Amino acid sequence: MESVVQSADARRAEIQAYAEKIGIDDAYISVLVETFYEKIRENPLIGPIFDEAIGDDWAPHLARMKDFWASVALNAGRYSGKPMPKHKRLSKARAWHFEIWLALFEQTLKETAPSPLVVDYFMERANRIAQSLKLGMFGAAEIVGKK
Ligand code: HEM
Repeated sequence: MESVVQSADARRAEIQAYAEKIGIDDAYISVLVETFYEKIRENPLIGPIFDEAIGDDWAPHLARMKDFWASVALNAGRYSGKPMPKHKRLSKARAWHFEIWLALFEQTLKETAPSPLVVDYFMERANRIAQSLKLGMFGAAEIVGKK
């Protein structure tokens, strides 16, 4: 009898094949990351939080973020960091900064992505990860707007 439950490996391979089919590759991820963090650094509300944590040498952060997105989007397995403690350390970050982060990420995608499917693909993942980072950083109460 054929199993109707797809294995996790088969599901991952399918997602990876889909991502590649719609034009997501390392070259695109590099453009996405570089363009996004240019916007982040120029933004007066969120830029200073990054500059304070990262300082002048952005190259290691950009390289790490390319590995991160290649792992998230293409299952490349090149990122093995732990984002939560790094974000919990950002004492000036507030839940509303995530709105700015997500808006700039979407704007970057709309300007650079090879198709609208690529915008959706990244935004779905970014929203999910942002939600989980927010929960870890601030707990549920602040996210739903309660004190
Ligand atoms: C308010 C929104 C956010 C702020 C202010 C923020 C800020 C930062 C900063 C300053 C760093 C560098 C930390 C360091 O090197 O010490 C960092 C790293 C990182 N961020 Fe964010 N971030 C935000 C949202 C997000 C979101 C939504 C994602 C994913 C979708 C994300 C993924 C990452 C990852 C993967 C790292 C690398 C962590 C590591 O070193 O392994 N961030 N972030």
